[in-house]
Amino acid sequence: MNMNVLVIGSTGLLGQALICEIEKRGMEAIGIARSGADFSCDIADDQALKKIILSTAPQVIINCAAIVSLTECEVNPGYAYLVNARPASVISEIAAKNEIYFVQISTDHFYTDDYNSKHREEDPIRLLNEYARTKYAAEKFALTCPNSLVVRTNIVGFRNKAEKPTFVEWAIQNIENGSHMTLFEDYFTSSICVTQFSSALFDIIEKKHTGILNLASSEVTSKKTFILTLAKRMGYELTNVNVGSILNACGNVVRAESNGLDVEVAEGILGYKLPAFDDVITRILEEYEGGVKTEV
Ligand SMILES: NC(=O)c1ccc[n+]([C@@H]2O[C@H](COP(=O)([O-])OP(=O)(O)OC[C@H]3O[C@@H](n4cnc5c(N)ncnc54)[C@H](OP(=O)(O)O)[C@@H]3O)[C@@H](O)[C@H]2O)c1
Repeated sequence: MNMNVLVIGSTGLLGQALICEIEKRGMEAIGIARSGADFSCDIADDQALKKIILSTAPQVIINCAAIVSLTECEVNPGYAYLVNARPASVISEIAAKNEIYFVQISTDHFYTDDYNSKHREEDPIRLLNEYARTKYAAEKFALTCPNSLVVRTNIVGFRNKAEKPTFVEWAIQNIENGSHMTLFEDYFTSSICVTQFSSALFDIIEKKHTGILNLASSEVTSKKTFILTLAKRMGYELTNVNVGSILNACGNVVRAESNGLDVEVAEGILGYKLPAFDDVITRILEEYEGGVKTEV
């Protein structure tokens, strides 16, 4: 398919994987971030953002830029709104006028109190912190555009930025060094590897699906199971760990902890199964051993 795709937040964990997937499919990728991308722009500046979109005339826009630190969002909710939420409204307006297909990357950070349940797209959500509030506002803004897709997910993988390790980079480093870790047994996600996510997302984009869609692993696991399984598959028996509760570990930020996603609708659209937990671990290890990561 001959398309040019604008990725907003192209230098992050997901953005890097999306750029690779776009290039793999023979499409043209254009990236935006505050630094290190084709276009440098703070997306809180709506005039600058508009100018780039209009000058690059993309067929598809994927917005995966966000402040993902819960603490940062809590400390500065005004700026979190300007980065996480408001740009979705600016993009929606331009996308609707110019018939651009708009993909807003959302979150799974909307569910609490029901352990490892899988949540469907229409299930009630709870907004427990500023990150969740800004991401939910972005969903609503994005949905004002008739050609928009809002994707809820939980992603894992390699960001390759030593100063900002991902959960997987942090876990692998601690596993290899034998450093102490607290394993949360009450924090559940349907984490999918970013490269698996990116491939499935482009299969969905080709079908031009609109509305809200969960795109994640088909299985829900706790962070404890995730780390223990990862360590075991790497050949390590973890001894320097304790089992704990996420509820005691978040400082002043209230965290959603039951974030499992039901991916039945996405699997129906795709016509294939999304990766199970073991497939996600396998992909992470392939990428790690393949040297995709750099030093953490
Ligand atoms: N990581 C997760 O566990 C997770 C889980 C569920 C959903 N999500 C969602 O997935 C998306 C991608 O997350 P990620 O983990 O890939 O994030 P990330 O690694 O922190 O990347 C964020 C990207 O956005 C850019 N960015 C941040 N603030 C910006 C600003 N003011 N103006 C322009 N660009 C800005 C960053 O580049 P600069 O800093 O150079 O500007 C970077 O390219 C987000 O929407 C997030 O909410 C993430």
